[in-house]
Amino acid sequence: MKRLLAIICLCLPLALTAAEDWQNPAVNDHDRLPMAATFSTDSPQLSLHTTWKFQMAQTPESRSLDFYKVGIDDSSWGRMPVPGMWQLNGYGDPLYVNAGYAWRGHYRTTPPIPASEHNYVGQYRQSFLIPAGWEGSDIVLVIGSATSSVRVWVNGKEAGYSEDSKLEARFDITKLVKPGAENLIALEVFRWCDGTYLEDQDFWRYAGIARESYIMALPKARLEDIHVSAEADGSYSIDAKLSKSAKGVKFYLSGEDMSEREIPASGKIAGAKQWSAETPSLYHLRAVVSDQKGVTETAGLDFGFRTVKIEDGLLKVNGKPVLIKGADRHEISARGGYVVTEEEMVRDIRIMKQLNINTVRTSHYPNDPRWYALCDKYGIYVIDEANIESHGMGYGEKTLAKDPQFELAHMQRTQRMVYRDINHPCIIVWSLGNEAGNGSNFEKTYDWIKGYDSSRPVQYERAELGRNTDIYCPMYASYDRITKYAESNPSRPLIQCEYAHAMGNSMGGFEEYMDLYRKYPALQGGCIWDFVDQAVCWPSEKSSTGYILAFGGDFNDYDPSDNSFNCNGIIAADRSLHPHAYEVQHGYRSILSSASPEMAASGKVSVYNENLFIDLSRYMLQWEVICNGRGVLAGTVPDLKVADGQTATIDLGYGAADLGGLDGDLYLNVRYSLKKPYGLLDAGEVVAHDQMLIREGNPVICATGVLGDQWSAEFDQTTGALKSYTLAGRELLSAPLMPCFGRAVTENDLGAKLDRKMGAWLYPEMKVADIQRGPAGLEVTYDVAGLAKVSVRYEIGADGVITVTEKMSDVAADAPELFRFGMEFAMPGSFDNLEFYGKGPFENYIDRQRAAEVGIYSQKVADQYHIGYSRPQESGTHVGMRWMRLTDASGRGFEFSSDSKFSASALPFGRRDIDLSVTGGGRGDGGDQRHSPELRPDGLTHVNIDLAQMGLGCITSWGALPLPEYRLPAGEMEFTFRITPTL
Ligand code: GAL
Repeated sequence: MKRLLAIICLCLPLALTAAEDWQNPAVNDHDRLPMAATFSTDSPQLSLHTTWKFQMAQTPESRSLDFYKVGIDDSSWGRMPVPGMWQLNGYGDPLYVNAGYAWRGHYRTTPPIPASEHNYVGQYRQSFLIPAGWEGSDIVLVIGSATSSVRVWVNGKEAGYSEDSKLEARFDITKLVKPGAENLIALEVFRWCDGTYLEDQDFWRYAGIARESYIMALPKARLEDIHVSAEADGSYSIDAKLSKSAKGVKFYLSGEDMSEREIPASGKIAGAKQWSAETPSLYHLRAVVSDQKGVTETAGLDFGFRTVKIEDGLLKVNGKPVLIKGADRHEISARGGYVVTEEEMVRDIRIMKQLNINTVRTSHYPNDPRWYALCDKYGIYVIDEANIESHGMGYGEKTLAKDPQFELAHMQRTQRMVYRDINHPCIIVWSLGNEAGNGSNFEKTYDWIKGYDSSRPVQYERAELGRNTDIYCPMYASYDRITKYAESNPSRPLIQCEYAHAMGNSMGGFEEYMDLYRKYPALQGGCIWDFVDQAVCWPSEKSSTGYILAFGGDFNDYDPSDNSFNCNGIIAADRSLHPHAYEVQHGYRSILSSASPEMAASGKVSVYNENLFIDLSRYMLQWEVICNGRGVLAGTVPDLKVADGQTATIDLGYGAADLGGLDGDLYLNVRYSLKKPYGLLDAGEVVAHDQMLIREGNPVICATGVLGDQWSAEFDQTTGALKSYTLAGRELLSAPLMPCFGRAVTENDLGAKLDRKMGAWLYPEMKVADIQRGPAGLEVTYDVAGLAKVSVRYEIGADGVITVTEKMSDVAADAPELFRFGMEFAMPGSFDNLEFYGKGPFENYIDRQRAAEVGIYSQKVADQYHIGYSRPQESGTHVGMRWMRLTDASGRGFEFSSDSKFSASALPFGRRDIDLSVTGGGRGDGGDQRHSPELRPDGLTHVNIDLAQMGLGCITSWGALPLPEYRLPAGEMEFTFRITPTL
């Protein structure tokens, strides 16, 4: 095992006499320019993005001390792209740990000194031709994001030093460069420094340089910083800081509804359009700076008029309480690591818009400046978080939140974030950090923000209900806990900073959170953990897709790992949607439809517009009445007149008389789509949908059975199981029908240790207790591993139809809960067409089925398993089934039906093949490293037909169970279904 192979060396880091910068929390920078707000400038820029000469030392002590000098022979050096992470470019392996620092298990954690062994030092060299025309300008070098620290030399002279991996560092290199010539730039990046103690976030621990890095030539007279305050009522003030040589600045404003005009430094814009995530109206401010001779620089930025306040105990944007339909997002690319392109950012925002996500928490550090500009532009609320997580130190006395040595770093990281991001309307809340304990350092950063920026609330999860948070923002609070809070007449809103842990096949019970958020005003939503799996797309010959979605522990046996715990996304790392994404889209929709059966029968639907700032004129409503899954009536309501926050009853134009002659299940489906493209969404994209029951009947079962000479059935003499069924000479069974109580465990099951607690039901020994044979069939009774008796009765009609009745009785008092109650068998893989009347089209479960709609779906068995799950697990179930057919190309096969709704799946893999409990299942060091794309179909169609399967849950993936109503306590139960041959 990996643990045994690893040489655990718990040695103290090398004690050095004089603390170097990388070990000294009192020194976080040298000659780094003060952080300023993000704005554009027309000054020339030179990109540093290219492949640099690169060498890596294994330890700080063994690094070259003169690598930065002019004239050093670097011809034998390697190469490294900027931007680029070392571990994705041939230097070291990706390492993932949740908490406990990247040296966990090998070295002690001794703040402020990081481990020295394996503290690789990357040294970069590259020459750049600085244009001759830059003579006379101030030349500034910008490193977008260096993990964990960077020191810069220009032409052999030191320009500066900086820590804090997640904010750009700027250095004035005017005195060091020679315009009109090649200039050598050298960078030294440490994998770990004292700052690493504040960067123990639950993510890949890459090192290298990310984000945009460049050199600028700035005029002597220029804008140095700018702060624009703008309120929802159109009032604004601009505070611009100019360089010494500047003599003045003029401001010009333009917007979608106004052509550019000069404005004073403060005033009020009559009729200014308000910014919100629903109406992201931006205005462009141009700042024209001049010296005595004339204009020297034109700078610019976009801003919005909006007001954020906590009033009456509620978080309000422009005076209205917003419902935070949020997600946490790591700035991570499946191929680039911390290097995320603008196209990837836009793609993420587009997916958020598709899924009705209106808020992002930048977990757990400030993001690339372009991210905020895109959120401003397309309308996403942002909770901007400081780059502070010292999780590995715990929350007790050792927490760095109480350590005076780290006060400076807490403060600098907070201040720089606020200085840089202050002008973005999208940022509605500042967050002090994540999982870093609480103490005086956070009280001070809280007080500082409150003093500097009165326009936004501040939150911090570890402050709980203490003084240094304006919002109560717990993580993973259960339904009961938030209800209790809501009913306690609270003075602070509750917005979960993380909830609904979307790991693997999850999000069962997600909509129950939404029900509570919609019920209690004080519950203003939260951010799902998290937006996207952090897995890395890694080539694999064994994978059917050519790559795996790699997670912790996939790269070597030495590094510590928390295995697949970084795959908790609503979507997969390759940005394909996980099935539970549809439940998020549904739970987060802002158009909610409802109708009693009587209303729906008379063609009326009640439409609630949950938007706060727009009516529904952007959307049209398309409706359809389905009878037994087939459309019978349809229509469109092209213009919806429902004001923000209002409910209207819409008449769809049909009445009870139109449904009179229809027999069976009747449902009304409504969907709302964009009439015209809006933002990143196309015309026709569906933003909300609902299905309402008109009446339930008996959906017509199509198959009728066949003549006696065309079929034959055979039971196993010893097990009593139906082992063979031939139809017109073809065998339909590849594995016999057997009762089934287990499932391939999900990540949530593993987290709750259900593989152990309920493991007795997974693969129990089935002892035949009795077999009764009769003229029309057989009844077999099994003793299921001492847990219960289960009998299966087969009644076979002359038409070949088998009625199967499975019954559980004599349940042991200490029998654990069941994963499922049903039957399992296999058919030859040629039976690869799946058609069903039930909930679809995507997989759904008893506690994750509100987005799915009853209908008839024709699918392929090959597509039933969701290959996007990083690790194998249960997949492909559909609930609410009334019939399901599995047929081959000629249409021959079985139809399964029941008078009660059942759930079922048909997969190209056997249950054992996708069950991590069979192969170990573990998650931490030495965990189970299996990957879904490496599964190989075994040529069979594996079928499960169940009365019920327990839910998935989502409260956490480390212990919480699904809600009681979605579980299956062992007890007497009975399930009857029919197997009808079809030709
Ligand atoms: C939270 C943490 C996240 C992540 C999550 C579990 O405690 O803030 O970063 O670790 O748990 O996936």
